[in-house]
Amino acid sequence: MQRISASFLPPIALDVKSETPMYHQLSDWFRRAILDGQLRPGQRVPSSRNLATELKISRVPVLSAYEQLYAEGYLETFVGAGTCVARSIPDETLKPANTKSRSAPSETAGQPAPRRTSRRAALMHAPAQSWLNNLGAFRVGVPALDHFPAGVWSKLVNRHSRQPRDTMVYGDPMGYLPFREAIAEYLGAVRAVRCDASQILVTTGSQQGLQIAAHVLLDPKERVWMEEPGYPGAHQAFTTAGAQMIPVPVDQEGLDVPWGIRRGRAAHAVYVTPSHQFPLGTTLSATRRMQLLSWAVHNGAWIIEDDYDSEYRFGGRPIASLQGLDTDARVIYVGTFSKVMFPSLRLGYVVVPKDLVPAFSAVRDAADTFSSTLYQVVMTDFIREGHFARHIRRMRVLYMERRATLVEAIANQMGDRLEVIGAEAGMQLVALLPHGVDDEAVARKAAKVGVSARPLSRCYLNPPARGGLILGYGGANTDEIREGIRKLKTCF
Ligand SMILES: Cc1ncc(COP(=O)(O)O)c(C=O)c1O
Repeated sequence: MQRISASFLPPIALDVKSETPMYHQLSDWFRRAILDGQLRPGQRVPSSRNLATELKISRVPVLSAYEQLYAEGYLETFVGAGTCVARSIPDETLKPANTKSRSAPSETAGQPAPRRTSRRAALMHAPAQSWLNNLGAFRVGVPALDHFPAGVWSKLVNRHSRQPRDTMVYGDPMGYLPFREAIAEYLGAVRAVRCDASQILVTTGSQQGLQIAAHVLLDPKERVWMEEPGYPGAHQAFTTAGAQMIPVPVDQEGLDVPWGIRRGRAAHAVYVTPSHQFPLGTTLSATRRMQLLSWAVHNGAWIIEDDYDSEYRFGGRPIASLQGLDTDARVIYVGTFSKVMFPSLRLGYVVVPKDLVPAFSAVRDAADTFSSTLYQVVMTDFIREGHFARHIRRMRVLYMERRATLVEAIANQMGDRLEVIGAEAGMQLVALLPHGVDDEAVARKAAKVGVSARPLSRCYLNPPARGGLILGYGGANTDEIREGIRKLKTCF
């Protein structure tokens, strides 16, 4: 039996003026709490001395109540564990008597009646699909955690956990300054981003960066061009801001800017992944970049550039950011450490045009004040001491190998069914399905055999012409990749 500590005892209300004796009130309270499931079998209860002190009453009624509860079998003593709720209370008596009324106030014929939420919330999809649940090979957005330099990382965490004073207090909503300096330097060198540390806003990942950008830049019902297909997380971020999303198609040159100008109606902003389009993997061509920047200047529109995994390019020269080409401070550049480090770190950043810094800072502050200082400090050292650059270099080689294994396994085992696109960069590729095959159905079958294959159709705002699977290869070794494709084959 698991022992549960006594630290969280629900509040005990005693009526000192009541005619019911104090010990009676206390034993009643414990009995009810045990039967309602608020106190669970094996859970420690406070010592009579501590409870009397806490309730500011004499110890006598507490001792009497405990004696009564022992006699009735509600409490037991265990050597070394003190007094606990008895383990032998039958399960069925432990069901909370009033759970129903708490969780679903109006139920008809067993079906909870839907309760009103905001229109924005009703438009959101809960991310509970099985293919998102850390399942087998091909998880999207999962890096090679088996190659993460855990030794170095834990040393740095340890180093800073020992000097907690500076890391345990409230921090700047924009982020820890040395970390922002390190990010600005890194982005300048590697991504040709033009900024200084004052423009770096540290976030809990790019999802928060997108959400903050949407809230700062857009009023409800204002239009934003979205890549079609595009990143579902961006759909969610713009939905929560109440924006109206205009799907603009993506072709071999990336976002079809001329299409947007002709047919996309005026918009206040555009969301774009120019270095590595999510999910199709194309790169926004130089012509389209210039068209997009010029459209933004002429329309007073914002460009939200999501540069989520551009560290990993396998062929050709690295592609500079759109932000670096912008001469009118129209680009809001969003980045993340989720791919290059690990997603649960929850650290990302936004490069904010200088005049918008106060607005971004205020919205960040309202969202969740600031990111964990401990991890910002640790990341600063990880970058400054050269571990970051080394890790990225190693991962680039590893992902190249994993990508080649996946492409080859698909060609050998499923070349007649899957058409690979977008395999030149990043940690995932798209495998298009034959026309007419339902990607959701394939993804569901894949989940049943332990393989995560995200349906491409989830990335569309309008129904897609052709389905596909998004297959991540960063987090699976070459054996797992081959085995994953063998399993996937059984789903057709
Ligand atoms: C296009 C895109 N942007 C951003 C992210 C990362 O989001 P976060 O930094 O919130 O983990 C992902 C992750 O899969 C992504 O695919």
